[in-house]
Amino acid sequence: MRFLITAGPTREPIDPVRYLSNRSSGKMGYAIAAAAIDAGHSVNLISGPVCLHPPPAAAVTSVSTSDEMFEAVHHNLKECDILVMCAAVADYRPSAVSKNKIKKQGKDFSLGLTATRDILRSLPERERQFLVVGFAAETTDLHANARKKLQDKNCDIIVANDVGSPESGMESDENEVTIFFREGETKEIPRQSKQKLAHELVNIFAKMCEKRLTKKL
Ligand code: PMT
Repeated sequence: MRFLITAGPTREPIDPVRYLSNRSSGKMGYAIAAAAIDAGHSVNLISGPVCLHPPPAAAVTSVSTSDEMFEAVHHNLKECDILVMCAAVADYRPSAVSKNKIKKQGKDFSLGLTATRDILRSLPERERQFLVVGFAAETTDLHANARKKLQDKNCDIIVANDVGSPESGMESDENEVTIFFREGETKEIPRQSKQKLAHELVNIFAKMCEKRLTKKL
């Protein structure tokens, strides 16, 4: 099967030297890419700026902003069976990017922000030829928020993780997740290395995709 995987953070420029970003290291997305390759799948990896080496067999597109990630996902969508949106895409970007470095001025400083384009929400809603896996990064009400994202973002699967704890989620080497399926079932996977977890996730995504394809035949 053909996996299209996004990983890492996006950077939304403020001026030539500053940007808005988040703590995503890319470890989870890169582990999923490596596990998919191990399982014999092909991988197209769209990566935000991270300090990791991609698996050699992956085709890699490096991006920086949410707009670039949006374009790269849409450009590669036709060639995928499973889209895994593991990247921590910025929800907002500065409304204007200053051409010159902004000078320090006074005590308070306000930055106008504009919502970015939501990649998951921009996907076709019906008759999709590919499985859509979103992630939900939560610090409160994980179950309720993840179910809402599953619906609002029209995903087939949402993988929810708690990003408020230092032992799992962002930056750490381990993660624990709850998977929410469109049909209503859930599956909890306890804390373990991102590599091990990624193998289990790839298995689940591939099985789900196969089931859908068989149903259509
Ligand atoms: O990279 P690591 O340090 O290993 O950490 C892994 C991780 C915590 C970043 C990863 O497991 C994870 O949770 N990724 C999703 C982070 C996120 O942006 O979650 P969210 O709940 O804000 O967004 C929900 C979904 O919408 C995500 O699939 C996201 O990719 C997608 N999204 C968000 C904004 C946007 N403009 N377009 C999108 O498609």
